[in-house]
Amino acid sequence: MQTHTLFFSPTKTGATVAQAVQNGLQGLPGESPIGESIDITKAAVHKTFDEDDTVIVVMPVYSGRLPKIAVERFKAVNGNGAKGVAIAIYGNANAGDALLELTDICKEQGFEVIAAANFIGEHSFTMKQFPLAAGRPDTADLQKAEKFAELIREVLNGTGPLTLPKVPGSHPYSKDPMNLPGVAATGTNLDDCTICGLCETVCPTSAITMTENGPQTDGKKCSWCSACVKVCKSNARLFTSPKVKETAERLFTNFQERQEPKWFLPARK
Ligand SMILES: Cc1cc2nc3c(=O)[nH]c(=O)nc-3n(C[C@H](O)[C@H](O)[C@H](O)COP(=O)(O)O)c2cc1C
Repeated sequence: MQTHTLFFSPTKTGATVAQAVQNGLQGLPGESPIGESIDITKAAVHKTFDEDDTVIVVMPVYSGRLPKIAVERFKAVNGNGAKGVAIAIYGNANAGDALLELTDICKEQGFEVIAAANFIGEHSFTMKQFPLAAGRPDTADLQKAEKFAELIREVLNGTGPLTLPKVPGSHPYSKDPMNLPGVAATGTNLDDCTICGLCETVCPTSAITMTENGPQTDGKKCSWCSACVKVCKSNARLFTSPKVKETAERLFTNFQERQEPKWFLPARK
């Protein structure tokens, strides 16, 4: 009986929330030992859980849905009756149908979903002139993640049916999942690039190849996740697509109000 995390998290906001919830499940009566952190950001992981495990599953919202590649990679996992906690993390704009989709795919992979939540993470397209949920999850978010964990533990220790209330989203989902845009969002300022290779390492779709002339980006493979921009220590990776800037400006104009995490738990005694 262990508490695991499983996440697709190119810019690590989801991974941070997953860990905070996992930590929150420790050190309290009825705790279960910390298990594995299973990262499916770069590749699928074949894993079958035990029935008495709890697994915190976290994925980001891309255009109101889950990233196609995350859903694909998740199919290598067998929940085998383990308890699932579904968390969709979004950039303070709109979570769309993603949380419903996440609970759906958790069930399809054999989890009994006992809790679900939307959390907020710094938007992948945040930039100096258009900050979007910058720095989130922040201390207040992580405290909420621990509170959520406490409530999950109460559910696990309670009696009665484990019926999850309705989560946001609708069937059929209102949008198709986002396709790869077909052009790279990012490129490299070679004057600043130290050819360290970190951008190549973090890219979830292997769109970046390091050469002696710097990183080459395959526009057809780029998912616009911005992992390379955020990881680059010399700020050489930049958004090159004007569409990113346009989107950031639009989001900055329309979604300033701070959204808070929201959770959905069975009313168990
Ligand atoms: C291609 C793309 C589409 C996105 N679409 C949305 C969206 O529809 N609504 C939203 O609030 N945030 C959206 N985001 C922001 C991410 O959901 C947010 O930054 C999240 O915290 C990223 O998770 P990660 O750090 O675990 O990768 C999008 C990000 C990307 C890269």
